[in-house]
Amino acid sequence: MESVQVIKQRFGIIGNAPSLNRAIEKAIQVAPTDISVLVTGESGVGKESIPKIIHQLSHRKHGKYIAVNCGAIPEGTIDSELFGHEKGSFTGATQTREGYFEVADGGTIFLDEVGELPLTTQVRLLRVLENGEFLKVGSSKVQKTDVRIVAATNANMFEAIKKEQFREDLYYRLSTVDIHLPPLRDRQEDIHLLFRKFASDFALKYKMPTIKLTDSAIEVLLKHRWNGNIRQLRNVAEQISVLEQNRTISAETLNSYLPSSGNNLPAVIKHTKSDTDFSSEREILYKVLFDMKSDLNDLKKLTMELMKKGNSKEVEKEHQGLIQKIYGSNDETDYEEAIDEPEVLSIQEHKNIPQEITPSTDKYHFAEEIEEEETLSLHDKELELIKKSLERHSGKRKLAAEELGISERTLYRKIKQYDL
Ligand SMILES: Nc1ncnc2c1ncn2[C@@H]1O[C@H](COP(=O)(O)OP(=O)(O)O)[C@@H](O)[C@H]1O
Ligand SMILES: [Mg+2]
Repeated sequence: MESVQVIKQRFGIIGNAPSLNRAIEKAIQVAPTDISVLVTGESGVGKESIPKIIHQLSHRKHGKYIAVNCGAIPEGTIDSELFGHEKGSFTGATQTREGYFEVADGGTIFLDEVGELPLTTQVRLLRVLENGEFLKVGSSKVQKTDVRIVAATNANMFEAIKKEQFREDLYYRLSTVDIHLPPLRDRQEDIHLLFRKFASDFALKYKMPTIKLTDSAIEVLLKHRWNGNIRQLRNVAEQISVLEQNRTISAETLNSYLPSSGNNLPAVIKHTKSDTDFSSEREILYKVLFDMKSDLNDLKKLTMELMKKGNSKEVEKEHQGLIQKIYGSNDETDYEEAIDEPEVLSIQEHKNIPQEITPSTDKYHFAEEIEEEETLSLHDKELELIKKSLERHSGKRKLAAEELGISERTLYRKIKQYDL
């Protein structure tokens, strides 16, 4: 039998918590049988690896593996998706179609979020589990299939049974073996390990030095509740890896990426930065783009001045604010002038232009071209970001401006510019 360590390596599973090892061991043990398995655990704990392990270590490994997210398929089409339909069985059924249970004959089907299945589908599923029989929608011909079922749920199935939303007999059929993955907060020894792994992956992906947590930041990391579990930890590691210029991360910085800053209360829906500001990866990228564009404009302005005046001391004196904005204040440049108002959206607290880039006159023409070629779509995205932010804050400009990292005045100008 393959060892837990080998399986972890093969499936990219990080962690050494005894509870995680036990779950993997159980998966290895049941894999060669045809027993139905129910994987339970909160969202983001890594449930999706378990059916993959089971399939790969079973005699079905050369058969098909189909993962179905039961919660994502509309109720009206789920029977047809799973079991297929006959031509003419409903409007739009112009052809006979095979369902997943027919296609996966000899393989494994992973039913994710199984608690979301409609009751009528549950009846069909029970029949397949009991004797491998099913009917296509609109057909009375009994068909046979040989499919191993692994299901997963993050819902409390007993509650669902009590509310008559889930059939008790089906529950017991599905959960012949129950593999439970504990929440991340109960796997203390794995939290920092996972964070370091994600940090190093993202450093490679974004070609930046790896971020490192200070001791007090590690404490914050361990104390946090991680309601979104490993998925949330990964997202936080990615956001910090992309946005923080200083690669040593303090407790304060880490806290600014966590909802309900590091306490142990459940993170109820609260609109903090990490909930709203970077709700999708795309949004992060647009923000980084705007940030870069803003820096580029500033650099162009500065370079132009240098070319015109040919006297760097004079330019330095006149544009202290701008220089501070681009390079931040450090020991050598202790500028006091207020930061110039940004022309485009930028995340002021996340200035991340690398220090080694210095304005050079050679870059001037290049920068000018970029401005000429700037696509309309960037403006569309800017508009979209502003709209979304205003919506989130019910039109309150002050809050939206804060979230977008621009002054209220700039936001006002943008609103007029885009005719919002
Ligand atoms: N132990 C782990 N090691 C590395 N990555 C993990 C681990 N557990 C989960 N992940 C990652 O976390 C994310 C969420 O896992 P997933 O299996 O989709 O969670 P669930 O299905 O329980 O909601 C995925 O990107 C997955 O690769
Ligand atoms: Mg999942």
